[in-house]
Amino acid sequence: MIVLPMPGSERFGQLGRDLGLTSGLVQVHRFPDGEGRVRLTGAIQGDDVAMVAGLAQPDDKLVSLLFAAATARDLGAVSVGLVAPYLPYMRQDRRFRAGEGVSARYFCRLLSVAFDWVVTVDPHLHRIGTLDELFTIPAEAVHAAPLLAEWIERNVRTPLVIGPDAESLQWAGAIARLTGAPHAVLAKRRAGDRRVEITLPDLTAYAGYQPVLVDDVISSGETLAAAVRALRAAGWPAPICLAVHPVFAGGAEDVLAAAGAAAVVTCNTIVHPTAVLDVQGLLAAAVTRRRPPLSGPVPPRLAGSGAA
Ligand code: R5P
Repeated sequence: MIVLPMPGSERFGQLGRDLGLTSGLVQVHRFPDGEGRVRLTGAIQGDDVAMVAGLAQPDDKLVSLLFAAATARDLGAVSVGLVAPYLPYMRQDRRFRAGEGVSARYFCRLLSVAFDWVVTVDPHLHRIGTLDELFTIPAEAVHAAPLLAEWIERNVRTPLVIGPDAESLQWAGAIARLTGAPHAVLAKRRAGDRRVEITLPDLTAYAGYQPVLVDDVISSGETLAAAVRALRAAGWPAPICLAVHPVFAGGAEDVLAAAGAAAVVTCNTIVHPTAVLDVQGLLAAAVTRRRPPLSGPVPPRLAGSGAA
């Protein structure tokens, strides 16, 4: 198998080196009119390919990614898989208002046409339960909860793990189980892209605990910022914020800092200064599971059998 990181995802070439795999390159030349030309380097012919693509800001990257997969097939790849540390478009998972599209389905359908398998980290699965409902190819989600739990165990005494909304219960619950800490979930109402209201349940039983907010994605930062403000207004110490995917849309760092978060820690599914937790080991294990079995010893040719 050969690992091909897309431009901007070269840091994930380490994933191939950890697995003892060869790495190639995907080069994208941008013409003056904005169109791109894909070129692959490396021994593709007759090999299985694992492309690695950071897919935050996906609209800028999708065409090159699809063309790179098609190019690999043209060059004789036996199979072409995709390692997408962050799977975008997953939050539009139903038609919230008449006339809207369900982006999660369309995005995964496009990937299913181009690739033979997909591996990702903690996709936002809420109203759609599993990746199998979205992909027509094998799709595996690996989970960062053990990384977040380990960070909490090393850095926080008496943590109270808090999910900012109902959707985050799966992450809060998993981390609470791994750390043995109690957990709670807040109630969120989103009135717009950057308008979020959070209300607290009765948390008096946890007085004295350090609040640790956990979510899958930080995008505008408004969800965690509203949760931080609500907890501080109720007299809690400044909460620590943990998340898997540091999408950090413009201004999100300032929003969280202004709310008074004590610290922000995320995973390196996307490049960001807070991304100190390394998911490459999780991804490498998943790629190994996708790797075709090595062929066994070649049986000795029978003398005089005439076999070619
Ligand atoms: C939504 O349910 C997700 O789990 C996150 O809570 C949400 O995407 C965070 O977005 P933002 O940072 O824009 O509030």
